[in-house]
Amino acid sequence: MTPRDWLWLLHPALAVAAIYPLIGIVARLGAQTRQRREGWAKRPPTTGRDHSDLGRWLALGVVAIVLVALTVVIATAAPPAEFRGGAGRAVQLLLVLAGTMASLGALWWASAKGARLAFAVITWLGVLTLGAQPEVFRRGDHPLSAEFWSSHYWSGVAVVGLMLFSLGAKAEILREPRWRRVHVGASVLAGVLFVGLAISGARDLLELPLHWQKPALAACDWTAKVCAAPAPKGHDGS
Ligand code: HEM
Ligand code: HEM
Repeated sequence: MTPRDWLWLLHPALAVAAIYPLIGIVARLGAQTRQRREGWAKRPPTTGRDHSDLGRWLALGVVAIVLVALTVVIATAAPPAEFRGGAGRAVQLLLVLAGTMASLGALWWASAKGARLAFAVITWLGVLTLGAQPEVFRRGDHPLSAEFWSSHYWSGVAVVGLMLFSLGAKAEILREPRWRRVHVGASVLAGVLFVGLAISGARDLLELPLHWQKPALAACDWTAKVCAAPAPKGHDGS
């Protein structure tokens, strides 16, 4: 494992160790909030509050691990001296990253409706801008192709959008039954996407070679699923 390989492990490790446990807790508290409000079961009055407090951290965490993945993918695609587009592009991309993080922070603290909408949209656009860079692998871009639906990237940015919606619309979800219904629908969809991301993420880990193995795998034909046979060894094993 080179330092680059460790950097590539950061995103999956954070997802497994922090995000998925949080999804379980937030989903359970969400179900309990509903049970309490509908009078199906007796639950402590703090349930709704706990759900939305941890929900905010979940939304923040999901955007953060996606930014980690995108930064690592873009920054390590080539050695620093050979960075595509040179220092100018690197600075531009760093500005997009900083702007996206600032907008996420502003969304966390904003209270006016217009500001929350604007910061949620800006944060999502920032993630999409970084995701659109040529270094980022997107299995397929055509919504009618199987590759698109099995793409870790597209489910990832979709779930980021859903999390930003819940984070931005917290006040409305608390107050208005209509928005609460939209929130439950969006969260069920997010739940399905999270399961899909676990599968496509694990698949991608399986397919990604370690850094030093890459040149050997570049010689493989990925469509025919064959690799060149290794060079025969001499009698002395050399
Ligand atoms: C795994 C993701 C999530 C699931 C499955 C989920 C599910 C739910 C459910 C079932 C309810 C109860 C609706 C009702 O009472 O009819 C709810 C309420 C709520 N959720 Fe979520 N949610 C999720 C994520 C989030 C996130 C990320 C936030 C962001 C802040 C959030 C904020 C809220 C708020 C403010 C309420 C209203 C709480 C109350 O009535 O006291 N949720 N959610
Ligand atoms: C909250 C759930 C997750 C979200 C929203 C998410 C989203 C993303 C996004 C947007 C990318 C960048 C595009 C790409 O390179 O494909 C990415 C990369 C990646 N994801 Fe995930 N992912 C999640 C969970 C996972 C899990 C559970 C695993 C594996 C166990 C995983 C493994 C990977 C790998 C190997 C990469 C390549 C880049 C890297 O390792 O830094 N992801 N993910």
